[in-house]
Amino acid sequence: MTPDDDADLIETGRKLFAGDWRFMWAAPSVEALPPMQGFEVAFAGRSNVGKSSLINALTNRNSLARTSHTPGRTQELIFFEGPKGVDSRTPDLRLVDMPGYGYASASKAKVASWTTLIHQFLLGRASLARVYVLIDSRHGFKDTDEDVLKTLDRAAVSYQIVLTKIDQVKKSQLNETMTAMAEKLRQHPAAYPQMLMTSSRTGEGMAELRAAMVKLLRERA
Ligand code: GTP
Ligand code: MG
Repeated sequence: MTPDDDADLIETGRKLFAGDWRFMWAAPSVEALPPMQGFEVAFAGRSNVGKSSLINALTNRNSLARTSHTPGRTQELIFFEGPKGVDSRTPDLRLVDMPGYGYASASKAKVASWTTLIHQFLLGRASLARVYVLIDSRHGFKDTDEDVLKTLDRAAVSYQIVLTKIDQVKKSQLNETMTAMAEKLRQHPAAYPQMLMTSSRTGEGMAELRAAMVKLLRERA
């Protein structure tokens, strides 16, 4: 057996995400989800935090997931499937782009329906191997994020915080956001204790995030 050293995880992550990623399914409600199969990793976070952009950056694609500078772009659970059989130790993976929560300018009915969809999905999906909860490093952690962490605690799904758009903040501000976030995470022992830092614009943090997913897949295989 090859050791899971960091270089090996980074290289397998690169291969997994350089492969053929395709749109497979869009679910407007939990009744319309695709059959569970293999492992899924979902990206959750407030509207406009950069979920869809992160999926594009991970897969080196400009428009696999639809993005927009106005919040409320992704309105369904969007499933993408990755390449089959990257290596014998790494199971196949699906990525799930989620609608954002906490977007005050959308109609109340829409916000309520997206929020219900998000929470129902997170609570009832056995194939969900991990959820990355994205926090905008400019804005930090909000009450609506806390609601999602509580749902994830209840669901007993593995989850990890990703601070996004780090190209937009000074190091001092990033450190402040990290310190405040670490404090919040102390109340959530189910959360992965380390945070990831990403920029979909510069590509910072992508290799680490890809490697983290390979590690997870191998642990679950
Ligand atoms: P909803 O689908 O509406 O919930 O939003 P989302 O979380 O999917 O955000 P999306 O990926 O659509 O990005 C929102 C805006 O943020 C777009 O204008 C992106 O170009 C911008 N953005 C996303 N990631 C980054 C980043 O790492 N750096 C910078 N500077 N801008 C980013
Ligand atoms: Mg989106």
